[in-house]
Amino acid sequence: MRIDILSAVPDLLQGPFSESIVGRARKSGVVEVEVHDIRKWSTDKHGKIDDTPFGGGAGMVMAIQPIVDAIADLQSQRTYDEVIYLTPDGERLAQGRVNQLSLCGNLLLLCGHYKGIDQRIREQVITMELSIGDYVLSGGELAAAVLADALVRLVPGAIGDGESALTDSFQDGLLAPPVYTRPAEWQGHPVPDVLLGGHHAEIEKWRMEQALERTQRLRPDLLDEA
Ligand code: ADE
Repeated sequence: MRIDILSAVPDLLQGPFSESIVGRARKSGVVEVEVHDIRKWSTDKHGKIDDTPFGGGAGMVMAIQPIVDAIADLQSQRTYDEVIYLTPDGERLAQGRVNQLSLCGNLLLLCGHYKGIDQRIREQVITMELSIGDYVLSGGELAAAVLADALVRLVPGAIGDGESALTDSFQDGLLAPPVYTRPAEWQGHPVPDVLLGGHHAEIEKWRMEQALERTQRLRPDLLDEA
């Protein structure tokens, strides 16, 4: 999988993509994640990438030219399965969408800034709009980092133990069961007996019951959806 990200503040994305699972997956060649500065495509002599909104009002709009040229340039190099705009008024991201996108070969993510991008780009060029939640970030970069992280962990080879992404919360529509490690008793609080018994079928049954109980208590909406 290859993920290209167009951003007005590309430095913001260096950290999330150079550490941990995403960093290792990039180094080992399991995924490619490339962050591009939109200014590179600006034909303005000062590298301007914003413009005033028609009709007036507060705030600037991202200029059309650099975005459209950047997308066309990248699209001339490869075919993208989706051109995704990160925006608070997009579809709320959930695991099902992440699973579906993780099967894609090439994704292009556009991070919004200022008051956003011209509506005509949204209608004519963007193929999917995603939000990471009902709150407003200063830009789409952190949302793009969240999406890319959620995607990369599903790409085969990104996680050492192939099991572990499959047992994440949400993968079976349930919250994950609680986990424990040593010591078996900590400050008077013991680990549930079943986890110490070594009986795998019992442990699996307990985990499923815990997952169901936690989901029912904390996120009953997930059970309604299922
Ligand atoms: N840009 C600003 N806020 C955002 C959000 N919640 N999700 C995606 N992109 C955003």
